[in-house]
Amino acid sequence: MITIPKGTKDVLPADSYKWQFVENAAREVAAAFNIREIRTPVFEHTELFQRGVGETTDVVTKEMYTFEDKGGRSITLKPEGTAGAARMFIENGLANAPLPLKAFYITPCYRYERPQAGRLREFHQFGIEVFGTSAPEADAEVIFAASSFLKKLGINGTRLEINSIGCKSCRAEYNKALKDYFRPHLSEMCSTCNERFDKNPLRMIDCKEEKCKAITAGAPKILDYLCPDCRAHFERVKSLLDGLGVEYAVNPDIVRGLDYYTRTVFEFVSTSIGAQGTVCGGGRYDGLIAELGGGNVPAIGFAAGLERLLLLMDNTSVPFPEPPVPEIYLAGMDDETRARAFEIANSLRSRGIAAECDLMSRSVKAQFKYADKLGAKYVAVIGGSELESGSVNIKKMSDGTVKAVAFGDIYEFLEENN
Ligand code: HAM
Repeated sequence: MITIPKGTKDVLPADSYKWQFVENAAREVAAAFNIREIRTPVFEHTELFQRGVGETTDVVTKEMYTFEDKGGRSITLKPEGTAGAARMFIENGLANAPLPLKAFYITPCYRYERPQAGRLREFHQFGIEVFGTSAPEADAEVIFAASSFLKKLGINGTRLEINSIGCKSCRAEYNKALKDYFRPHLSEMCSTCNERFDKNPLRMIDCKEEKCKAITAGAPKILDYLCPDCRAHFERVKSLLDGLGVEYAVNPDIVRGLDYYTRTVFEFVSTSIGAQGTVCGGGRYDGLIAELGGGNVPAIGFAAGLERLLLLMDNTSVPFPEPPVPEIYLAGMDDETRARAFEIANSLRSRGIAAECDLMSRSVKAQFKYADKLGAKYVAVIGGSELESGSVNIKKMSDGTVKAVAFGDIYEFLEENN
């Protein structure tokens, strides 16, 4: 048997309504914030992610699905949505569109990671990106949109952690302080940290190795190195969040795993889904558009992992809406009555009613059983006498009550009794 690749998952017919619920909630939140959908390719030129996401990140150094296509180009499956959105913004001249430009996406992403609960090789993100504004109001709006999304799903109990990792100028000071701190410990730290020491010491704070974590705990904190502008920006974001009633904790250790971030960074974290507890992460990336050759356009956004959200909802018994069921099952007894049931079912479908009938030449008893398994709300059996009278007894499955309805009135009956 050919099996599914490691780290990927099928969405089965019985579960897809859960996905649709989450995706619809995402679309509704986006609409309320006047955010339009974008769709960018699943694959991009590898260089986009190398330059965008950053050469020292785990994502770029270890996790990308990169291959050469038949034309000899290096292609990479998108490991995240922001770089592609930024490329789209630049390539389509959207800096000339009314700014800020607000966009959302629901997209598959690919990272070659070690699979575990909440960590897959193919996963899906709902993300929002806002281009063209450095106002702290945009930071608060984006964080509020993420929090509204979680609330709409019925998820409570995630913790919002925020931090500021400053701009280029405060980062220079901070990197110097980090190097001074880490230099005497380098021999005790992992080889990745040693590499990052020269290229991007901030990334060392993100190391997951226990021996490195112990050292990192005592490292200088970025918040002590913010320049006056970055400090004022962060203070304003916090007071806007206070005004919106969004609860948060400042966590000076959040640096995020991608290199493009500047100033505000944030994560919504849960303790109910194991080690991979971050359900949503984001932040400001004021230098990315310039890095990709698109001029000085500040931006901010977030992405939430849909698999992690679904896992969290399952683990904490957050109710989903009822799965969809047929309104009516029309059973037939022989070829003639089955043909009539088929006709009626399809005319109801044309009018938007979820109707079902037999496609398996089953006995009436077996059709009833099937209808019951499908959860049909009503069942009607068309036999010879029904064909003659032109009406049928419609049984309500939840309470067993029966009503005789003319064939031509079934639509109205279902509409009224819905
Ligand atoms: P990220 O933190 O790398 O940020 O990913 C965002 C979310 O995607 C995570 O919080 C998690 O829920 C989900 N996720 C990441 N990797 C996996 C995985 N292997 N399996 C399952 N879920 C995963 C970004 O991707 C940024 N582009 C977010 C952003 C948008 N920042 C600004 N704008």
